[in-house]
Amino acid sequence: MEFVHVVMFGFISALAAAQVPHWGPCPEPEVQQAFSLKQFMGRWFEIAKLPAQFEKGRCIETNFTLRTDSSIRVVSSEILKGELKKIEGTGIIEDPKNPAKLGITYSYVLPYSPYWILSTDYVNQALVYSCTDVLRLFHVDFAWVLGRTRSLPESAIEKAREVFARNNIDVTRMIPSRQLGCDKTL
Ligand SMILES: *[C@@H]1O[C@H](CO)[C@@H](O)[C@H](O)[C@H]1NC(C)=O
Repeated sequence: MEFVHVVMFGFISALAAAQVPHWGPCPEPEVQQAFSLKQFMGRWFEIAKLPAQFEKGRCIETNFTLRTDSSIRVVSSEILKGELKKIEGTGIIEDPKNPAKLGITYSYVLPYSPYWILSTDYVNQALVYSCTDVLRLFHVDFAWVLGRTRSLPESAIEKAREVFARNNIDVTRMIPSRQLGCDKTL
């Protein structure tokens, strides 16, 4: 069950997710300067994502809270086939010199996956990127536009795409996440 969830939320290797890998090593995007973990905490809704996974759950959101040991409690939820599903994970700042570079895992048997905050204003939106090198030959990546509300203006999403693209991240296959009819069910 947990394995299935991990796949759904996209935190697993390229092969398992049957993704199209990109040649070459991961890009090295700029991340949010002077990142404030505290301001980033709280509830974020998934507005758009890469790769395209049409058939997965909808109303995807994540609630980040600081634990007393300064790790991050990560609770992700979605509605799948009319049912609310939740999984809990753990986040950490992987490199204190680069606090916007988080690592998140949803299972103690899996390593931390990169979860880099490329940019955020903390109150409206955040751009998140995750990339894993495979033998330096190719890489697999995930990208998300997150919002504090269930929708963002089209102009904000367009700008987000530009920021990804400027950092050599291919978001041509990025798709909007389904956030309709969510609050009724919850
Ligand atoms: C987020 O998690 C915190 C801590 O567990 C909880 O108090 C809060 O109600 C949660 N918020 C949502 C929207 O789930």
